[in-house]
Amino acid sequence: MNAPSDPDLNIQAPAYVKNARLIAWVADMAALCKPARIHWCDGSQEEYERLCQELVDAGTFKRLNPAKRPGSYLAWSDPSDVARVEGRTFICSEKKEDAGPTNNWMAPAEMRATLAPLFDGCMAGRTMYVIAFSMGPLGSPIAQIGVELSDSAYVAVNMKLMTRMGRAVHDVIGTDGAFVPCMHTVGVPLAPGEKDRTAWPCNETKYIVHYPETREIWSYGSGYGGNALLGKKCLALRIASTMGRDEGWLAEHMLILGVQNPEGKKYHVAAAFPSACGKTNFSMLVPPKAFEGWKVTTIGDDIAWIKPQADGSLRAINPEAGYFGVAPGTNMQTNPNCMLSLKRDVIFTNVALTDDGDVWWEGMEKDTGHLPEHLLDWKGQDWTPRIARETGAKAAHPNARFTAAATNNPALDAAWDDPAGVRIDTIIFGGRRSTTVPLVTEARNWQEGVYMAATMGSETTAAAVGQQGVVRRDPFAMLPFTGYNMSDYFQHWLDLGRQLKARGATLPLIYCVNWFRKDADGKFVWPGYGENMRVLKWMLDRLEGRVQGHETAFGVAPRYSEINWQGLEFSPAQFETVTRLDTADWDEELKLHDAHFDKLAHHLPQELLDIRAALAQRIHA
Ligand code: OXD
Ligand code: MN
Repeated sequence: MNAPSDPDLNIQAPAYVKNARLIAWVADMAALCKPARIHWCDGSQEEYERLCQELVDAGTFKRLNPAKRPGSYLAWSDPSDVARVEGRTFICSEKKEDAGPTNNWMAPAEMRATLAPLFDGCMAGRTMYVIAFSMGPLGSPIAQIGVELSDSAYVAVNMKLMTRMGRAVHDVIGTDGAFVPCMHTVGVPLAPGEKDRTAWPCNETKYIVHYPETREIWSYGSGYGGNALLGKKCLALRIASTMGRDEGWLAEHMLILGVQNPEGKKYHVAAAFPSACGKTNFSMLVPPKAFEGWKVTTIGDDIAWIKPQADGSLRAINPEAGYFGVAPGTNMQTNPNCMLSLKRDVIFTNVALTDDGDVWWEGMEKDTGHLPEHLLDWKGQDWTPRIARETGAKAAHPNARFTAAATNNPALDAAWDDPAGVRIDTIIFGGRRSTTVPLVTEARNWQEGVYMAATMGSETTAAAVGQQGVVRRDPFAMLPFTGYNMSDYFQHWLDLGRQLKARGATLPLIYCVNWFRKDADGKFVWPGYGENMRVLKWMLDRLEGRVQGHETAFGVAPRYSEINWQGLEFSPAQFETVTRLDTADWDEELKLHDAHFDKLAHHLPQELLDIRAALAQRIHA
């Protein structure tokens, strides 16, 4: 498309937009993308409702029954556009080795040449939304500003729930504040008079591109989740991890919890889990009855930005303001606080629609005791229990999502929006392993914690293709999210630990957990969910020096007697099943660590290899 921009296009910014660089960039991008209109989002509730109504009129949204799900909408995406596309995600640093072996790479000049014709005229016939957003509490010294230009109203309304968005952000940027430019298009320009043929326009060609050196994001072709809501994975992890390396802080794929004991002492815990390992559940954990008087509160469910302070302590914020979580599997038993967060003012994507205008997904039958008789599934087709039995059709797509403001969460921490963040006492790394990795161990020091995180893995559940149990190494749960060379990222963690120590700080204790050990019959042994509180309590007891644990080859582990078992039948034999270290398993495991490290050989810190050697020795001692 080389059509000139519409000479009538009004690029005038509202009076409250005072940043000359931003205004000039919007004008340049409008000249490139050639939208029919520009809408500067003010982030108001009126604007949100107006855009939602426009999405209803366009057929993208269905308004849910206000008696059942007030203020809520359902979108069904194109069946080809249902998840992040890691294969189309690129880190375009000048040097290939700076992107490292875990990222797709293309030279910036080559990528720019590839994208230029795609973006030329890409917004024809559409509105370009100017979405200014703050990742982090407005004005926080840890926060960063981004501005996303998108031709998707779905993106604009999701960004309103997921970030602090609109006029207040322009006040923070002021006349010369910095921002990360984020370009997004669904990649379906409209000819004059042409109407969309589908309610979810998107392009088969997709690019999710990051230029870490110039701190830019360019996303083409997808309207879904992390591909399109550019504040989340693109800015808050890939670009921010690079900023963190350059500026001495951490951008992590971690939830943040507040835990208060009955005496009123409060702790803050950051925890990294790979996608689909129960992270949202852990971030909204409800302690079992035996933990009367304990309070667990959510600061964040997905991302933490952690900054060292002058005294060597670490303070963290959740850069997001909402949850974009996976719906299937969520119910009052697995995550009651999440279900309560979804009662009103939610955008649902790719869940099923009930006959009375509410939503449904697999797992909700656990709350009602039965399956619904009839639904429209996420593709808009009839779904009945019989159809499901006969064809295996899922009512909701397995990656169906909810978008809800954090303020919907009844367990939201009072400090969730504190610009100063919260002090981190403990860091947890958890994978999904049916064997080998025990329920919980404490790293003996920061470096050993880095080793545990660097070798973290998650087993694929590809039973259908007979590959159950293939371990995907997901270091720090950051495999698809580190914006630079993974081994340099390990080094950054090691260096940071050393610097904090030099400032005289007591470093947070680091734990490795695994909720997913299976017994000889292939059944999960640990009950998980709220019962994880028992493990959390042990960690805090360690922090206070109340329990000793015992040294194992792989860190310090709890004794059976050190865990509060009140209200849970969990025998010493079961405990043994989830905590035992098997020498043969670990010999195999260490071979896998070696293969993993071989792939990351460029700049791999020698320290990690030394820790590996010591671990091997202890396994055989
Ligand atoms: C997410 C993910 O959506 O990690 O948070 O994939
Ligand atoms: Mn995530």
